[in-house]
Amino acid sequence: MIKLVEGLQWGDEGKGKIVDWLVGKEGYDIVARWQGGANAGHTVWKNGKKFVLHLIPSGILHKDVKCVLGNGMVVNPVALFDEIEELKKKGIKVEGRLFISDRCHVTFDFHLREEKYSEEVKGKDKIDSTLRGIGPTYHDKFGRIGIRMCDFINKKTLVSKLEANLEKKNWMFRFGYGKLRGLEEEIKALLAKDLPPEQAKEKVHELFMGYGKERCLDKEKIIAKYLELSEKIRPFVHDTSVFLNDAIREGENILCEGAQGTLLDVDHGTYPYVTSSNPVAGGACVGLGIGPTKIDQVIGVAKAYTTRVGAGPFPTEQDNQIGEKMREIGEEYGATTGRPRRCGWFDAVAVRHSVTVSGANSLVITKLDVLDEFETLRICTGYVYKGKFIDFPAQIEILEEVKPIYLDLSGWEESTRGIRRIEDLPPRALDYLAKISVLTATKISFVSVGPKESQIAVRFTR
Ligand code: GDP
Ligand code: IMO
Ligand code: MG
Repeated sequence: MIKLVEGLQWGDEGKGKIVDWLVGKEGYDIVARWQGGANAGHTVWKNGKKFVLHLIPSGILHKDVKCVLGNGMVVNPVALFDEIEELKKKGIKVEGRLFISDRCHVTFDFHLREEKYSEEVKGKDKIDSTLRGIGPTYHDKFGRIGIRMCDFINKKTLVSKLEANLEKKNWMFRFGYGKLRGLEEEIKALLAKDLPPEQAKEKVHELFMGYGKERCLDKEKIIAKYLELSEKIRPFVHDTSVFLNDAIREGENILCEGAQGTLLDVDHGTYPYVTSSNPVAGGACVGLGIGPTKIDQVIGVAKAYTTRVGAGPFPTEQDNQIGEKMREIGEEYGATTGRPRRCGWFDAVAVRHSVTVSGANSLVITKLDVLDEFETLRICTGYVYKGKFIDFPAQIEILEEVKPIYLDLSGWEESTRGIRRIEDLPPRALDYLAKISVLTATKISFVSVGPKESQIAVRFTR
């Protein structure tokens, strides 16, 4: 059996908690991630301890489960070993249980630097990314100059590819990103001095050769650092597509863990305010090297309201006391960057779009408890643009201008945190969930009512 868990909003839907819970309840042999990198932050509470996973699937917290980092991922070896260390400190052993694809791409220090500069240059138009080098690594992958894990563990190939990459990147750090303006001014000032031609030529050459050197990465140091990491990572590297397909033949159970969410998908999300990979369920086949016929169920996870961290359109955003209340009760601060998350009402148009493009056939609603203290609740049921109802639009200029149409409901105003059966939820909470189910045309299989591992209500019979 292969099931897949994916986010249906702008990430942080509580995927980590749901994966952990499913592994405990249904028993999986393997948990595999197919995309993204250390931009993810999946929070799992276990026996009173908080774990935040960035690269390693949440399944690692179950000692008999093997974890796969698929070919569609971008892996930063520095971040990976930091994460392994953190897990070790909390008593989790990773050796022998972690299988990293030989085809995934490697994120290097220069990708992080590249992203910092490119975000700076974009100014107010920046994506507000996690600055984990994700965009630049995928940029290199699709530009066919990236370094894959199979190259990373081969010293000779690594050195030659790193040298070639560093040369290009350092050139870009020196002369790219709009910094040339400074050089032009310096040259102009020099020429205004009216120096003899030979001397002026020499000075310009000097200026040019020294220009931006401080922004360059030290080739020797970088190569030495990554050669050490190459040695360290080698035992974890495998052909994970073969590994997974063998497991499928053996009848093992596999859970695929998505990162980010469908609205951050580079094809189906709110482009360009998206991440650079395919969190949508279909991405799992490409990002793990398994066929679409092998996936039995797609579980879409959505919060009972909406959040977004970073820039981009958000039609149901409540940039007011309502949003602040959601942020405070839901502790809506990024698990990776600590940034406050923007909050708003549940957007059934956006989630319906996500369900459609991902083929989710089961819905999990998380953080229902966060709405416990709201007197009234709203669900966005439609978008109106220029007087007409529209579907979730491709153009962000339109998404920025749509008028959300709301269905108003009374809140249940009592705690749901201790409830373990969906039938026992307050009638108004059941009504709220039923509306979501109808509007997204998907059945809700369970509901999360708190951050802890036991806080889940199951058996939805309505
Ligand atoms: P992920 O990236 O999708 O795994 O989600 P994050 O871990 O980034 O964000 C979800 C946050 O909500 C974490 O702090 C979780 O501990 C917390 N959480 C998950 N489910 C629930 C829930 O049902 N209720 C509450 N109050 N918090 C939850
Ligand atoms: P999990 O897996 C929420 C957002 C960033 C930014 C945009 C692009 O925890 O749900 P990137 O660094 O990926 O190039 O940033 O995507 N973003 C996330 N938002 N949850 C995430 O992951 C995210 N990963 C990236 O804030 O707006
Ligand atoms: Mg997260």
